[in-house]
Parts: sequence; C-alpha cells; structure tokens
Amino acid sequence: MIGAGLIGRRRAIEAASHPDSRCVVVVDADPGRAAEVARAAGATADTDWRSLMVRGDIDAVVAATPNGLLCEIATAALAAGKHVLVEKPMGRSLAEAEQMRASALRAGKLLKVGFNHRHHPAIAEAKRRFDRGDIGSPINARCRYGHGGRPGYEREWRGSRELAGGGELTDQGVHVADLLHWFLGLPASAFAWLQTAVWPLGDLEDNGIGMFRYDSGVVASLHTSWTQWKNLFCLELFGTVGALVVEGLGGSYGVETLTVYRRNLAGGAPESEVVRYDGNDCSWRDEWKDFLAAIRGGRPLGGSADDGVAAMRMLDALYRSAATGAPVAV
Ligand SMILES: NC(=O)c1ccc[n+]([C@@H]2O[C@H](COP(=O)([O-])OP(=O)(O)OC[C@H]3O[C@@H](n4cnc5c(N)ncnc54)[C@H](O)[C@@H]3O)[C@@H](O)[C@H]2O)c1
Repeated sequence: MIGAGLIGRRRAIEAASHPDSRCVVVVDADPGRAAEVARAAGATADTDWRSLMVRGDIDAVVAATPNGLLCEIATAALAAGKHVLVEKPMGRSLAEAEQMRASALRAGKLLKVGFNHRHHPAIAEAKRRFDRGDIGSPINARCRYGHGGRPGYEREWRGSRELAGGGELTDQGVHVADLLHWFLGLPASAFAWLQTAVWPLGDLEDNGIGMFRYDSGVVASLHTSWTQWKNLFCLELFGTVGALVVEGLGGSYGVETLTVYRRNLAGGAPESEVVRYDGNDCSWRDEWKDFLAAIRGGRPLGGSADDGVAAMRMLDALYRSAATGAPVAV
C-alpha cells in the first residue's frame, strides 16, 4: 500500500481482511501515518515507495497517493512485475493514463483503476436492470455529484495543478465519466463550462458542468461541484419505458437508494419501486474481491486500464471544450 491517507487506510484494511490477501507493507512519506495504518493492517511500515519494487514478497501494489505520483508509481510497479490497483483518476491527464496502460501491456500485468462506485450496491443493481432492458432503450442520463469543499483547499494537494491534475471535474467527475462510460459507452462529442466560483483555486475549477452526445443520439449531462453545500450524489438514467435513479452513497451523502420507475403507457404517474441500501459501504471490499478474482484469472476486470483511459479521454474532451468554448470530439 503506497499512500496511507484516507483511501490508503481503507484499502489496506480491506486487503488485510480478505482471506486470500495480506497487506505486507504500508508506505507513506509521513512515517507516523505509515506506522499507524501498518499497525491497523498487520503490516510493516516504510517511507520510501521505491524500496518495494525490488521485493519478491509483494505481488500487487496499490497506489493511493496524491494524483501527481500515481503514474510514476504505477509505471515503476508494473515494470517491476507487480499487479497494480491505481486510485482514480488514472493520473493527471489522458497522456499519463495511456502511459500506464502501455506499461501494463508491456509487463503483462494487471492494472486496475479505483472505480469503487461501480460496486456501490444501488449503482451495481441499476446496471443489472439497465442491461436487462428494464428501462428500454436509453434516451438520456444526468449525473450530479458534489460536496462543499473546505477553507484552505487551495493549500491541500487537491488545490494544486501539479499534484491533482485538475479541479473538481477531475476529482469527483472522473467517477461520473466512468459511470457514464460503463452504462452508455464512449460518447462521440463533449461540451463543458468550468467555474472557479468560491474557492481560491487559481486555474482549477470548483465546478464543472458538461454534456456528452453519443452516436446513438443519447445525451448525458453532468455537474460536479465543490460548492454543493450539502453533499450530493444522484445518477439518473432515462429510457423509453422507464427510469433508474440512484441517490446517496451512504454516510454524508445520505442513504443509498435505487428508484426504478416504469412508465405508465396510458399516461399519468409511473409505477415506482424504491430499494434502500442502509448497510455499510461495501464498495471497497467488493472492488478488492474483484481485483483478486481477476489476478487469479477467474473474472474479467471491471475498472480496467481501458476503462480508466476511456474516463480520462472523456474528461480530456470536457477540458478541451471548456478551453475553446465549443463542442469537441471525444
Ligand atoms: N475511489 C474513491 O472514491 C476515492 C476517494 C478519495 C480519494 N481517492 C483517490 O485516492 C488518492 C489519495 O487520496 P486521499 O483522499 O487518500 O488523500 P490523502 O491526502 O488522505 O492521502 C494521501 C497520502 O499520500 C501520502 N504521500 C504523499 N506523497 C507521498 C510519497 N512520495 N510517498 C508515499 N506517500 C506519499 C501523504 O502523506 C498522504 O498520507 C487520490 O488519487 C484520490 O484521487 C479515491
């Protein structure tokens, strides 16, 4: 485990808890953090991530540092013959994502991107129902995702272009891009506006508002925000005979629910069914299970290197559009 912050801690504990894996070493530039997470995961602690690369007792590396280091770490680990789970976003740019994918192909090792949202139960169930045709043919989709930022964000790594790559459109927007890609595929064109409305983030956005258009005519819109004063996640998919609406992600995002609407063909109110997921966030555990199953060769990988590159390609198009003020090809 490289990076023992919020996400590294979570992933180290999942790795330690699974019967088929153990967390060998936790690395963080901050020795106190490394030691604390190592204790929680039954691992040893280190402060130099490069020292892991020559060790024969490590099969897989998880990179959960600030985005600015993800490409360098993933590339080195793949070259050293390790499987890699790299946190989202897949680096700071499309070019870094493509570099990581090429390293994985060269090394013949597995590269997975941390798209845990696919494993949130309401989202996973929405995908099953979508694939089963429950809402008919897709027409359009909307996704809103945000929180309220915090004073001093500009002094954290997320407030630095060098360390983060982009602002909120990159930070939470990459999950949105991945989900839209997962449900609807790669869009043909993109359009976006960016705002830096409240937080003093220089040239990084605190709001990203965009649209995608697919060759099929499907349109998807997204709004990612660090001025969403009350945390919000909402993904809506509309089809010819119904709709799927996911709200909440648990915790501060509210109880996770899936509402399935079935169009009333005679007109009037639709039938609806609400499924609530009150339990703990199991997405980290289930994503780790999938990663291990893919390493053992049993299952195709969700959140693959190709998926990561696709999401970065979608973000890249949104940023290019925002820079020119015109729709661009994805
Ligand atoms: N999948 C998700 O939903 C999700 C959610 C939040 C963050 N993330 C991603 O996880 C990654 C980490 O985010 P976080 O919120 O845990 O950040 P964080 O700031 O809590 O943790 C980052 C850690 O990396 C350490 N670090 C910095 N430089 C290092 C170096 N050279 N060597 C070793 N450690 C170093 C820091 O000391 C810190 O402990 C980011 O890429 C972020 O985008 C993913």
